[in-house]
Amino acid sequence: VSWLEWAASERARIIGGSRWRTLPAPETGLVSFASNDYLGLSGHPAVLAAAHDALDRWGAGSGSARLIAGSRPVHERLERALAAWTGTEAAVLLPAGYMANLAAVTAFASPDTLVLSDELNHASIIDACRLARAEVRVYPHLAVDAVEGHLRSGRRALVLTESVFSMDGDVAPLSELVEVCARHDALLVLDEAHAVLGPEPPPSPLLLRVGTLSKTLGSAGGFVSGPAWLVDLAVNRARPFIFTTAVAPAAAAAAMAALDVLRGAEGERLRSRLRANVDTVAPGHRSPIIPVVTGGEDATLQRARALRDAGLLVPAIRPPTVPAGTSRLRISISALHTEEELQLLKSALPELAAVAA
Ligand SMILES: Cc1ncc(COP(=O)(O)O)c(C=O)c1O
Repeated sequence: VSWLEWAASERARIIGGSRWRTLPAPETGLVSFASNDYLGLSGHPAVLAAAHDALDRWGAGSGSARLIAGSRPVHERLERALAAWTGTEAAVLLPAGYMANLAAVTAFASPDTLVLSDELNHASIIDACRLARAEVRVYPHLAVDAVEGHLRSGRRALVLTESVFSMDGDVAPLSELVEVCARHDALLVLDEAHAVLGPEPPPSPLLLRVGTLSKTLGSAGGFVSGPAWLVDLAVNRARPFIFTTAVAPAAAAAAMAALDVLRGAEGERLRSRLRANVDTVAPGHRSPIIPVVTGGEDATLQRARALRDAGLLVPAIRPPTVPAGTSRLRISISALHTEEELQLLKSALPELAAVAA
């Protein structure tokens, strides 16, 4: 078939499944429950000032990969701060959280490695496994027993999980996973993109922490942190790090300023506010991501439209982002939501009353 025919049939297939996506116009006038800017730091005055300053000082782009001539003092300062913040020896920056997962996995997994991956892991982790061409075993969601079963083979293994799952808002059993991995000498790679309210993993010599600058820190970029002997090896082996231009200096400076806010008294207050806002909507829920599973694609789109008519922006999440039959409304709570906005959400979505902690 020609490209034109192929594209038409592919388009018809996606539309037929009610999975066609278009880029939404930037929304104004709606209360957004769609952003991962959990603490509102993307608009914090100190963050903006730092970005402006870096832009004036270092220009718009880094001009080159980190290992060539792309490094600026702000990159190194941010890496040291991220390592300190995550209680690790070293950190390395990547241009996106997506690429941080690609880097962490491909630096250590190859066709002779066993990779164990939670069935609900993010697309960037799945793509990382593909890129590594490793032997991948997908284990049932959160099933530490299944992980241990695979590790008994004695092979050199990598275990991949999110700490807070991006579409379900639930939390991995970190202590158990750290313990099982340590017992079998397996390397645990933890994607903490959404872990603004925890959980904090116990320290471990075989733990890599993957994070993003794009959500809690309100900027753009990602990082991998861990023991220096692993991070140094990632710098030398991870192609998604080696062959890409360094994070824009203004983005790194913004994340640095956001991290300073986060680690201070104001960060403490913002996180308490976020915790309280989550409790208002779903008491005891472990994360700011609250899914309301609606099932089919059409029903979910309809509900999202009705919410929009009520002044609320709540994204409809459909396959392939989530498994077929589990389309959902995905609510992201922010520290900046007001009590009135949260009450409006609750009255528009009565199912929230039944969301389990
Ligand atoms: C769990 C998880 N990991 C990684 C990413 C990628 O991060 P980034 O948007 O910084 O590329 C996301 C979201 O985008 C995510 O939800």
